[in-house]
Amino acid sequence: MYKANDKRYEDMKYSRCGNSGLLLPKVSLGLWHNFGDTSQYSNMKELCFTAFDNGITHFDLANNYGPEPGSAEKNFGRILKEELYSYRDEMIISTKAGYLMWDGPYGDMGSRKYLIASLDRSLKRMGVDYVDIFYHHRPDPDTPLEETMGALDTAVKSGKALYAGLSNYNGERLEQATAILKDLKCPFIINQNRYSIFDRTIENNGLKATAARLNKGIIAFSPLAQGMLTDRYLNGIPKDSRIMTDGRFLKETAITKERLEQIGKLNEIAKGRNQTLAEMALSWVLKDGIVTSVLIGASKPSQILDNIKAVNNTQFTADELKAIDDISL
Ligand SMILES: NC(=O)c1ccc[n+]([C@@H]2O[C@H](COP(=O)([O-])OP(=O)(O)OC[C@H]3O[C@@H](n4cnc5c(N)ncnc54)[C@H](OP(=O)(O)O)[C@@H]3O)[C@@H](O)[C@H]2O)c1
Repeated sequence: MYKANDKRYEDMKYSRCGNSGLLLPKVSLGLWHNFGDTSQYSNMKELCFTAFDNGITHFDLANNYGPEPGSAEKNFGRILKEELYSYRDEMIISTKAGYLMWDGPYGDMGSRKYLIASLDRSLKRMGVDYVDIFYHHRPDPDTPLEETMGALDTAVKSGKALYAGLSNYNGERLEQATAILKDLKCPFIINQNRYSIFDRTIENNGLKATAARLNKGIIAFSPLAQGMLTDRYLNGIPKDSRIMTDGRFLKETAITKERLEQIGKLNEIAKGRNQTLAEMALSWVLKDGIVTSVLIGASKPSQILDNIKAVNNTQFTADELKAIDDISL
C-alpha cells in the first residue's frame, strides 16, 4: 500500500461545489488519457500518487475511458486496491455514462436501462461499492429528461452514487433537469463542461450563468485545450505529446499557424505574470470563482506539479483579460 505525503493538504485550495456540502480541490485529475491499456501502469500510479500527495482528492473517470473502453476504470481500480484503498474516504471518484459503451440498443445515450447497467459495470471494474459523483455524460434528445434524471436519482438512492452530475448540458437543459432533480430531492450538484481560453462555449450557451444562478458547481474539462494552452507545441510537435502518442481527439491539424501565433502571444502574457502558460490557462478558468475546479489531464507527474501552482494566482488585471481576449477570440 502507498504511504501518502503527510503534508498533502497544506497547499491545495478547496471550493464548495455549488451549495452542497462537498468541497472539491481547485485542481482535479481526469483519467481520459494515459490510463488505458496502451499506457504504462507504473506511470499511472505515479500520476495518481503525485496528485493525491498534493491535495488533488478528486479523480474523474467515465465508463468509456481507455482504450479499450473500460480499461481506465479497471486500471484505476487496480491502483486503488493495491495502493490507495486505505485513503478511499479521502477521495472523490466520479464516473459517467452517456457515450457508446456496448453493442445493441442499451449501451449508449440516456435510458434508465443503460445508465443503471453501466454504473453497475463501472463499480465492478473499479472494485468500489459506490462512486462519489455519477454523471450523465451528454444530453440525449430522444429520451425523456424525466427518465434520465430518474435514473441518476435511482443511482443515488440505491447507494451506488453519493451525488449526481450532468455533463455537456447547456443552460436551458440544465434548468429543466434541475427542476426535475429538485422534485426528486436528488443531490444534483455539478456540471462538467469544456471550458478554456480557447473554448468559451459555456459563456455563450447559458451554462455558466445558469449554473451560477442555480448555485450548482462547474468542473471545467480540457482547461488546457488538451495541451495546446501550454508550452508543449511552441517548438514543434514532441514525440511524447498527445498528438503523437494518441491522436484520437487532438490531431496535428489543430496546430495551425494561427493557433501557434496565439499560443506564442499567450505565453508572453503568462511570462509577464511569472506563470507558465499552463498555469495561466488554469488560473484564467478559475478567475471569477464560478468554476469550482479545473479538470486537468497529465501524461507526466511534473505536469501536475506545474498545474497545481495555478491556484496561487487567479487574479487578472483588466488589461491582461483584454489582451487574452484580443488574442483568443
Ligand atoms: N465530460 C466530458 O465530456 C469530458 C470530455 C473530455 C475530457 N473530460 C475530462 O477532463 C479531463 C481532462 O481533459 P484533458 O486531458 O483534455 O485536459 P487538459 O488539461 O486540457 O489536457 C491535458 C494534456 O495537456 C498536457 N499538459 C498538461 N499539463 C501540462 C503542463 N503543465 N505542461 C505541458 N503540457 C501539459 C498533457 O498532454 P501531453 O500528453 O501532450 O503531455 C495532458 O495530457 C479528462 O481526463 C476527463 O476526465 C471530460
